[in-house]
Amino acid sequence: IAPVRIGLAGLGTVGSGLVAVLQQNADWIAARLGRAVTVKTVLVRDLTKPRAVTLGPEVAITTDADALVTDPDIDIVVELMGGIDAAFALIHKALCAGKHVVTANKALLAKRGPELFALAAEKRLGLYYEASCAGAVPIVETLKSSLAGNRIKSIIGILNGTANYILSSMSEKGLPFAEALQKAQELGYAEADPTLDIQGYDAAHKLIVLIRLAYGCNLPLERLPVEGITGVGPDDIRFAREFGYAIKLIGQVRDLGGRLAAGVWPMLVHEDFLLASVKGAFNAVRVEGDASGPIMLHGKGAGDLPTASAVLADILALARQGMIPNNTGFLTEPLPEAELVDPDD
Ligand code: NDP
Ligand code: HSE
Repeated sequence: IAPVRIGLAGLGTVGSGLVAVLQQNADWIAARLGRAVTVKTVLVRDLTKPRAVTLGPEVAITTDADALVTDPDIDIVVELMGGIDAAFALIHKALCAGKHVVTANKALLAKRGPELFALAAEKRLGLYYEASCAGAVPIVETLKSSLAGNRIKSIIGILNGTANYILSSMSEKGLPFAEALQKAQELGYAEADPTLDIQGYDAAHKLIVLIRLAYGCNLPLERLPVEGITGVGPDDIRFAREFGYAIKLIGQVRDLGGRLAAGVWPMLVHEDFLLASVKGAFNAVRVEGDASGPIMLHGKGAGDLPTASAVLADILALARQGMIPNNTGFLTEPLPEAELVDPDD
């Protein structure tokens, strides 16, 4: 059987992680799927940049985005570039050209997801995005499939690895904020624009993706209250600890009888609560379904291999069920806008 052929857009932290996992687990993946998964073409901005992985001679590397879309041999376009405009254009063209798409781009899905999901539904193609929320933690599949029969009462989580890494490093090692952020960037956790991490917008993008999955509605980013961690200082962390609390950047949504209360804020979390013990770039999400009761997922929320693990899950899922993709878990597109209430009500 022919391999599943990938057109990979982006060879940075996550793109390189994906190539590394495909190389190290090639035999295992082929055995599980009954077909190999190979990268055919890689799209980058700068052909001369040194890379963290070595591509085989069979892989083409290009700066021409159309090369991924026009090649009839490419089955799935994997978008790991980040940003909005170029990523939107690539995914739009890929869907119009009949390609399934996998993306880790939560900023794009939060801002322009409705248009892309509607297009994917019209074309009956997959637009999968497990890696867009909480890195290796399988929260997208959990909401889309495992908890699909539940009314979701609430989702509360640590959704940004960089912010959690900074807060943990300030608390445990006494690192200054700027130094901790720099380390998070060196480790590949931060966004290309790290203000998205520290001002809470990356967590907000993820929360919007999760709200769509859990409640079947779109929440415009500008309607979501968002506060980041730039105002959290060493004294705040020390005082909180003295009283038995950790400061965590929390994204949460609660269902108040059909209307939603949601937002992203730094919060005091009591040390008895599991979220208080989530350290470094780990993420954790507590979901409460009306039938399932509370479920807690915890794992690496950022970084090359953990995020690649989630990207690969989507590639394998599409290779298995490509004929009937399940993008959001809802049959109708476009979805209605969320009814939001003030979280203090
Ligand atoms: P990087 O900045 O490390 O890599 C981006 C890659 O995309 C680079 O190879 C870059 O090329 C290429 N690229 C960017 N813009 C263009 C363009 N217009 N045309 C062609 N190539 C382009 O990003 P990450 O790997 O960290 O993140 C990628 C995506 O994954 C983002 O959407 C991010 O939000 C998401 N994500 C990241 C996680 C992480 O832990 N880092 C975790 C979960 C999701 P070049 O190298 O030549 O500059
Ligand atoms: N910058 C993001 C984070 C990457 O730190 O959580 C994972 O989505």
